[in-house]
Amino acid sequence: MDVVRIRGGRPLAGEITVSGAKNASLPMLAATLLTGEPCVLRNVPALSDTRYMLEILRRQGAKTRDLGGGAWEITAGDIRAETPYELVRKMRASICLLGPLVGRLRAADIAQPGGCVIGDRPFDLHLAGLRRLGCVVTQKGGRLSVDGARLRGDYIFLGGRHGSTVTGTANIVMAAVLAKGETRLDCAACEPEIAALCRMLVAMGADISGIGGPMLTIRGVEKLHGCDFAVPPDRIEAGTYLLAGVITGGDVTVRGAIREHLGAVLSKFEECGVTVDDAGEGALRVRGEPARCSPVDIVTMPHPGFPTDLQAQFSALMAVTPGISLVTERIYPNRFMHVQELRRMGADIAIEGATAIIKDVRHLSGAPVMASDLRASAALILAGLAARGETWVQRIYHLDRGYVEFDKKLAALGADIERLDDSAMPGDCNREE
Ligand code: EPZ
Repeated sequence: MDVVRIRGGRPLAGEITVSGAKNASLPMLAATLLTGEPCVLRNVPALSDTRYMLEILRRQGAKTRDLGGGAWEITAGDIRAETPYELVRKMRASICLLGPLVGRLRAADIAQPGGCVIGDRPFDLHLAGLRRLGCVVTQKGGRLSVDGARLRGDYIFLGGRHGSTVTGTANIVMAAVLAKGETRLDCAACEPEIAALCRMLVAMGADISGIGGPMLTIRGVEKLHGCDFAVPPDRIEAGTYLLAGVITGGDVTVRGAIREHLGAVLSKFEECGVTVDDAGEGALRVRGEPARCSPVDIVTMPHPGFPTDLQAQFSALMAVTPGISLVTERIYPNRFMHVQELRRMGADIAIEGATAIIKDVRHLSGAPVMASDLRASAALILAGLAARGETWVQRIYHLDRGYVEFDKKLAALGADIERLDDSAMPGDCNREE
């Protein structure tokens, strides 16, 4: 199994380009099931999650062709409604198959997704939304079966106790585009990834208005045609590199960082005294250093609020920022798996309910740490970049789910970081034993 070794203390400098957005590419790949015509999707990030989704599409009967350079052609001619458990259990986002299968086949039969380390991941809103569209949904033997014979548009309020649902919105939109009549989807997720999915569906012939806002109006059409569409840049990856620039006291330009997609994050950067400048079309330049940062109070919320997917990474910066910062998780209240590992590096963080109270320490010290999930892995690497000495991050496969060549991109900015086989770890560092 791979590990990443980081020797911290080097300020990062230079320019980096982010890849396509994981959380846009997954529903967009699923959306190709809505037509039997060829769809070309460009800027698909080379991640383990997108490889799983392409494999799932093939298992559903679609033909996929790698056009090179991140472009894929998917032709979902004759597809089936059933999805096997062994693929769904590897990637929760496969629940995004429900909408397109119901829209195209009027039926879906997928394995029920399992648990997740970042916290409770229910899908009650997905099912409630499908029922509002006239579907009969049954859960039996760990499978979700949907009969969409009477699929038709309706008014749906899709908000839950934590607000909107991203993949829930994707599913309902993808079922509604081919339903009879009009659907008004209230409390829709406003994440840029959902707006990108809607624009792709419109390019396929769907009739959607209110894109990017909390009320989507979808007028069902008979059928959809193919498209040639690009996945937008990954705002979470962009935010992670901006944080890498600050936590190392560097000067980094991130190409693909779109200001409008990162409003809440950039306002927190401003609040803590970091300079973020436009660096040409779709690029941002960040300069700053932890010692000159001020503490902040972050509360994660659905977009346009502060994204939960950047909470762990920002917490790593706060661990070396003077003063006391508060980070409250309103989306996944238990999403603090990174805290225990940051403490191993000397961070002073207390958890009170859904809030992390982060007190600054003079510096972090390198240590062997264990990644637990995708964004926690990134946070540990950021901490390693700032720490004194050597940090070994194990279970780095988590990182491969959402970051394309993270170590190589950071090395290109001057980080002393290397991906190695875990046999290279010093004996007392390997915690897998
Ligand atoms: C998407 O997950 C992202 N994944 C997550 O990114 C992201 O953290 C999350 O949105 C929130 O922004 C993909 O897009 C593939 P939700 P999703 O449904 O859609 C509750 C990453 O690191 N909820 O918006 O599964 C839920 O418990 C991953 O890239 C219900 O109560 O999240 C949570 O508290 C991690 N009932 C909140 O809503 C439901 O039916 C938001 O969940 C669905 C969700």
